[in-house]
Amino acid sequence: MPVKNRFAELLPEITAWRRDFHENPELLFEVHRTAGKVAELLRGFGCDEVVTGIGRTGVVGVIRGRTDTAGRVVGLRADMDALPLQEITGAPHASKVAGRMHACGHDGHTAMLLGAAKYLCETRNFDGTAVVIFQPAEEGGGGGREMCADGMMARWNIAEVYGMHNMPGLPVGTFAIRPGPFFAATDQFTITLEGKGGHAAKPHETIDTTVVASHVVLALQTVASRNVDPLKSVVVSVTSFRTGSEAYNIIPQTVELRGTVRTLEAEVRTLAEERIGRIARATAEAFGAVAHLRYDRGYPVMVNHDRETVHAAEVARAVAGTPTREVPPLMGGEDFAYMLEERPGAYILMGNGDTAMVHNPAYDFDDSAIPFGCSWFAGMVEARMPAA
Ligand code: NI
Repeated sequence: MPVKNRFAELLPEITAWRRDFHENPELLFEVHRTAGKVAELLRGFGCDEVVTGIGRTGVVGVIRGRTDTAGRVVGLRADMDALPLQEITGAPHASKVAGRMHACGHDGHTAMLLGAAKYLCETRNFDGTAVVIFQPAEEGGGGGREMCADGMMARWNIAEVYGMHNMPGLPVGTFAIRPGPFFAATDQFTITLEGKGGHAAKPHETIDTTVVASHVVLALQTVASRNVDPLKSVVVSVTSFRTGSEAYNIIPQTVELRGTVRTLEAEVRTLAEERIGRIARATAEAFGAVAHLRYDRGYPVMVNHDRETVHAAEVARAVAGTPTREVPPLMGGEDFAYMLEERPGAYILMGNGDTAMVHNPAYDFDDSAIPFGCSWFAGMVEARMPAA
């Protein structure tokens, strides 16, 4: 099962969809135009069922195979949303919307899954049902969680689910994967320190929150260096430090710190949350200040299931003609995690070649990767539900 010839024929059409999505980026759940075009195309292909409004603006398409002797159902997922970023590629198909761009390649993911859906509708060379899932709001909104909360898995009886992301730095036509924890849990925190503001020339009459917050920032470094097992992974980054004053002669009453926490295991996540709260409160208390912690748990760890990881890697190897490399976990987040909490499945990375990294304003999806991605999506259906 190398790259399917049909995708070489469909490449111009799929590329045109991809570039149309790229020119018209939409954020989070507001992917109305994108979802509308996805649904229209799916209906045109002859999907047996197309349902919109799953997880607010998600789209689900159902394709029945030539036969269905075992009642098997395989789900394939792509994300549709873009990022709040000003594009600088200068490409002819660059974003037409100021301050928004497809800087993560979700335009490519959506186009490739549409290409696979078109092929699967034409051929139906499998025994069972393929469900194509187009989700909104991967970039922080939890669109995958919302689609699951709408009962998607049970409604279509999905037994296994597979997803994919492009990866700059990996050669086009190659794939990478790992079993187990693959993408990190992504939490965020806000620490508000309350002291006693006053004149900068009379520090002894104040409780200087800038100094307190500086101690908190330094002490937070010990979560990774002193609290978590060195063989386990954690990131604690303070990314914002805002005092309540911009003057040269005022000691501010409050300081707000913000940051992110990335972990790959539940116990490490709980430990980090507990330590951040204790460090903030105890450090503040030592200086006579008070700390308030707001800790928001984001996406959970995305865990690839062992058996399904093998299936995904085997199809990728057949498509690429080279072995699928095993890579270390990434500390980024991925809300496909919610789908993998509900059903067995796997998530794979596909090479995007030597491009700028995702979330960079110079990034662009490489259209020459389209036949590989389409072949992998379609190949997963044909391999997991071989024609009777
Ligand atoms: Ni992405």
